[in-house]
Amino acid sequence: MHIFLDTANFDELRSAAKLGVVSGVTTNPSLMAKENNADLKSVITEIASIIDGPISAEVISLDAAGMIKEARDIAKWSPNVVVKIPITPAGLEATSVLSKEHIKCNLTLCFSPNQALLVALAGAAYVSPFVGRLDDITHDGMQLVTDVVTIYKQYDFSTQVIAASIRHPLHCLSAAKAGAHIATVPYKVLMQMIKHPLTDIGIERFMADWNSISKT
Ligand code: G3P
Repeated sequence: MHIFLDTANFDELRSAAKLGVVSGVTTNPSLMAKENNADLKSVITEIASIIDGPISAEVISLDAAGMIKEARDIAKWSPNVVVKIPITPAGLEATSVLSKEHIKCNLTLCFSPNQALLVALAGAAYVSPFVGRLDDITHDGMQLVTDVVTIYKQYDFSTQVIAASIRHPLHCLSAAKAGAHIATVPYKVLMQMIKHPLTDIGIERFMADWNSISKT
């Protein structure tokens, strides 16, 4: 499973890029608002200079014609850019047009296996099931990822599953076990994935033992 970073924060992206484990980025209007930056083009261009991999930029239009127009523009910003589109009738219509033009789409706000099936049929490159937001309403978010992976495998769809709305490291582990192609994670979760108290204790003990002999 690949790890994408779910952020529009340059400091987080630069810091995570150094680890060599992040192979893409997802953004959305809320993440842009968090950075108080409405210049999507400059943000995506900067992100593309930090991370060499697919970078999702979300359309704002709600009608198919508007989505298509925005997507064609976004697709010119960087060779790695992916257009993020919500799963609505307009979103599916736009995706079926754009995928024929080889513009990669990431269909977002996926909350059901049926939505994911339609996303694959429309020719999207990615689908983003939102795990945490389903958990929030007492639905098993990870079951959605499992179902979508099963359906896509059954019919050999090439659409990749991005486990999104990831809130903690256990979500990442479960997404990997469920067979998600990608988990897109907040920076904090990436750091939590690295951390283990026994690693810290082990380093401390190695250092103490080394110091005890190197000083003699
Ligand atoms: O990848 C989607 C993500 O940004 C949404 O996360 O925590 O707002 O549900 P959250």
